[in-house]
Amino acid sequence: MNNFSEKIIDYKQYIVDSKLRYFKPHATKIEKSFAEEISYSLNQNSKFINPKFFYDRKGSDLFESITSLPEYYPTRTEISILKKLKQDLPSYLDENMNLVELGSGASVKTRLILDIFTKLQVKTEYFPIDISEILTESSEQLLKDYDTLHITGIIDTYEGGLEFLKTYDNKKNLILFLGSSFGNFTPDDGKLFLEKIFSTMNSDDLFLIGLDLVKDKNILESAYDDSQGVTAKFNLNVLSRINDELDADFDLDNFSHHSIYNESDQRIEMNLKSLVSQSVIIAKSNLSLNFNENELIHTEYSHKYHVSQIKKLLTDVGFKIKNVWLDEQKHFSLTLVSKN
Ligand code: AVJ
Repeated sequence: MNNFSEKIIDYKQYIVDSKLRYFKPHATKIEKSFAEEISYSLNQNSKFINPKFFYDRKGSDLFESITSLPEYYPTRTEISILKKLKQDLPSYLDENMNLVELGSGASVKTRLILDIFTKLQVKTEYFPIDISEILTESSEQLLKDYDTLHITGIIDTYEGGLEFLKTYDNKKNLILFLGSSFGNFTPDDGKLFLEKIFSTMNSDDLFLIGLDLVKDKNILESAYDDSQGVTAKFNLNVLSRINDELDADFDLDNFSHHSIYNESDQRIEMNLKSLVSQSVIIAKSNLSLNFNENELIHTEYSHKYHVSQIKKLLTDVGFKIKNVWLDEQKHFSLTLVSKN
């Protein structure tokens, strides 16, 4: 008996057909951790909600809408850089390499990488890891468009998914982490996360990370507070999710979206602001909360970087920089690294 059969005990396997399977932790595990994490994080003096909880069905759809807002430059800019990789990436890849993606979401950008892989390979194996079930729909769509594609989806956190893959597959991997989702981490947690990736990687694996760059404050602030209010809806939706899933009674009219760019810490800080003094009950987290007027619930950091900081971040963990690609305006970056 190998490690693998022990490890997957926590996961339920869904085999759809010969080209598509999913792994998902048992439902009780996910629900328990949501209730527990909320019970901890809203019970602090400075209340917070982990941004990974944004992505229920509605939240994932709202995020997809954000990506096409005129003010939200990151997605379209990253896509413009990915298009340029058609030239440069193939020289780093080979016939047997797997594609792994952290936070694949709707897999729109993945297509640009899959175009490259499927051109190079007879059979391409893709392992999307995402906390949201949107993964199942995007996978089915991908299989319709790529004949030679095989997908093993993992519906879990990044950490859970990486741990799972470590025991599941031992081919050479290109690990994608796009969209500047890394920017959600505090510097300390980010460092730990990169160390986790580094230790999970085989010696000839590659890691491609997309990171947003420091730029004019006005551009940044409008990207996270758009004129149509979609980002506000996205932020507030996490409270409806808590209402629905944890039996809470947040009144969404009593909270507002509050987002600023903190220049010294180089990050957007997104919060939900309590508009009145109020109390809220979250039954499944055993919480009865009091909010002061103007009290903030911190919901997300989105860090911005200088290219020199990105290089340092990665080399400090032990990675070797293979290449860095930018768009013409230097708004966004893609960095390819290896272990040796
Ligand atoms: C998905 C984390 C990359 O930080 O830009 C967009 C999330 N939040 N608008 C980002 C987000 C508000 C996004 N990431």
